[in-house]
Amino acid sequence: MDLFTAIRERASCRTYSNEPVGEETLMKIIEAGMQAPSPANNQPWDFFIITRKETKMKIYEESLRCKKGLFEKSGWKWLDSYQVGFLTDVPVLIAVTGDPAKSGADIFLEQGGLGYQHACAAAIQNMLLAAHALGLGSLWYTLFGQEEIKKILGIDDKRAVVAIICIGKPARGPFKTKRAKIEEKIFRIS
Ligand SMILES: Cc1cc2nc3c(=O)[nH]c(=O)nc-3n(C[C@H](O)[C@H](O)[C@H](O)COP(=O)(O)O)c2cc1C
Repeated sequence: MDLFTAIRERASCRTYSNEPVGEETLMKIIEAGMQAPSPANNQPWDFFIITRKETKMKIYEESLRCKKGLFEKSGWKWLDSYQVGFLTDVPVLIAVTGDPAKSGADIFLEQGGLGYQHACAAAIQNMLLAAHALGLGSLWYTLFGQEEIKKILGIDDKRAVVAIICIGKPARGPFKTKRAKIEEKIFRIS
């Protein structure tokens, strides 16, 4: 698939069939992630593959806890209709973790320490595009508490969980969301 087609067509998927994702496909997706740029090429990412139902269930429960907390803080009504059951249906979850110490020169800047997150975000986007090009749906998921998710996954304190990516065959959709007009987002500095 042409890169621009993949960029244009990719959309978040929140309903998955339980058809398994093959190991070769999974490796292709992770390899695509690992081609991302990173500060001084320090590749701050590690990928934790989750396929066990019990672990997915624990992530689901942690998400429900966060959703409740989010509702209490925000009062957002739309959260009522936002269901996270796809976390247990989806065949594969990949926790993308980053090492905050691997943020490059960024550590010494005033706004420093975010380099590892930027690199992991670039890796995640590569993975979502690769999944789409391979005929799979995906979702960038962040509704979890840092300490709680690390405990569930047995991840050490040196790493931060940047996102959990859902990957699988879509059961429905996914459906494209709208984007702003390009003119609204461009400022030319003279
Ligand atoms: C940093 C980040 C965090 C996100 N977290 C969540 C999440 O926790 N749950 C979810 O359903 N979608 C999440 N998304 C997906 C966005 O909701 C989605 O990308 C956005 O609505 C645009 O839709 P599209 O991906 O279909 O183009 C996240 C996306 C990003 C980039």
